[in-house]
Amino acid sequence: MTKSIQIALDGPAAAGKSTIAKIVAEKLGYIYIDTGAMYRAITLKALESGIDLGDSEEAGNLLRDTAIDLQPSPNGQLVFLDGRNITEDIRSRNVTKSVSEMASHESVRTQMVKLQQQLASGRGVVMDGRDIGTDVLPNAELKVFMSASVEERARRRYEENILRGINTPLADLQKEIAARDKMDSERAVSPLRQAEDAFYLDTTELSIEEAAQEILKLAEERLN
Ligand code: DC
Repeated sequence: MTKSIQIALDGPAAAGKSTIAKIVAEKLGYIYIDTGAMYRAITLKALESGIDLGDSEEAGNLLRDTAIDLQPSPNGQLVFLDGRNITEDIRSRNVTKSVSEMASHESVRTQMVKLQQQLASGRGVVMDGRDIGTDVLPNAELKVFMSASVEERARRRYEENILRGINTPLADLQKEIAARDKMDSERAVSPLRQAEDAFYLDTTELSIEEAAQEILKLAEERLN
């Protein structure tokens, strides 16, 4: 049987993780799991149901009654919330602004981590997020911590948004990304941090293809 490995891809907001994870997964024939989309999905439900996002118990209870599904499609990964396709809805500015708060609750994270571990179990996988190398897949054969300057990340998100018809000014995006970095890195439960055995990849000066190639090279080394 061909060997397959688990690849954990962590880093701050808008570092290009999901774009690169998708390419790497496709090249290796692995599944791709976007864990940020899962936190976004429960945030959308919390906003729609009007619960207090700061209330850990309510947040945990809401997730307990929720089905989040990720399905591959020719146009990328589709995200389902209780059977409803919410792939586009979770990219809204409202969800983006609220997701760090929702993701800070231990009641939410414990359930998410368990679900993510089940999804990855026993298969070749590329999983991207903030705590994959440290908490979700601590035994992953390859861990990469990817980053880029805030200016470059805001610029990339700006261009992505334009294609989606979203017109948030660049300066606002930069502020929002910096605020999200701060919340994600300073939260008490599994904050964003580089695993000790992770490879640090600065993508500020790299194209998407170059970054993907770097990771594929590291993956090949692990596979041989
Ligand atoms: O990768 P993203 O921007 O779609 O992630 C959305 C938010 O979810 C991010 O601000 C932090 C949170 N998140 C997390 O706490 N842990 C993960 N494994 C993935 C995302």
